[in-house]
Amino acid sequence: MTKENPTAHLEKRRIKSFVLRQGRLSASQQNAIDSLWPNVGLALDEQLLCFETLFGRKAPTLVEIGFGMGSSLAEMAERHPENNYIGIEVHRPGVGALLKLIEAKQLNNIRVFNEDAIDVLNQKIPKNSLDAVYLFFPDPWHKSKHKKRRIVQAEFVAKIAEHLKSGGLFHMATDWEDYAQQMMKVMSETKAFKNLSGSGQFTPRPNYRPLTKFEQRGQRLGHGVWDLVFVKTHQTAESS
Ligand SMILES: C[S@@+](CC[C@H](N)C(=O)[O-])C[C@H]1O[C@@H](n2cnc3c(N)ncnc32)[C@H](O)[C@@H]1O
Repeated sequence: MTKENPTAHLEKRRIKSFVLRQGRLSASQQNAIDSLWPNVGLALDEQLLCFETLFGRKAPTLVEIGFGMGSSLAEMAERHPENNYIGIEVHRPGVGALLKLIEAKQLNNIRVFNEDAIDVLNQKIPKNSLDAVYLFFPDPWHKSKHKKRRIVQAEFVAKIAEHLKSGGLFHMATDWEDYAQQMMKVMSETKAFKNLSGSGQFTPRPNYRPLTKFEQRGQRLGHGVWDLVFVKTHQTAESS
């Protein structure tokens, strides 16, 4: 018997923050997926994750949404073996690239979803469970007609708040000034969060966020990067 999903019609209409690119998996990415996925890959099912069981220990658990080719995530996990990391990325070659890094660096503190982060948050991540959520350089969707695809919207931010612990951090970075302003506006209007740098202020890049190659090139060309770090201060309605 199939289970009725009362929100199925809404789900179908949800505007996605990505368009799946057709990029091909390289042979080495495919090999990494074949050998590592059974150990580090996670699937969407009805069951909420238990981080202690998943990682075999009690440790701070941090999520990176849209990790791209995974270089920042692998570097953070290597530098902070005391943390658990969950990476979420829809682009399969990116997942393959991260798995190659996990193999090369012998990391055992990363687990991976090849799924839409919204589905992962809705179906797999317990409320009030995360120590941090990272969103580094989300797709900018800079044309006016595409801006509705930007992932940072009030509803998304409310969802992040639900899944962070009280005291947990939400850290975003972008190299698009008008997206940075949009992030600042949405975050400032969300009661659950407080800006760690003071109202309306951007934050210098914290050391734990690796400088990407793309960002280094941007810096040489004089392009700006804006970091925003907010702490969850209030219990969200769902958690009280
Ligand atoms: C511009 S790239 C940045 C990648 C990486 N964070 C970096 O700094 O290089 C944005 C990434 O987010 C991923 N993405 C967009 N929406 C997503 C979603 N809803 N769930 C998971 N990944 C998503 C895209 O596939 C893409 O790889």
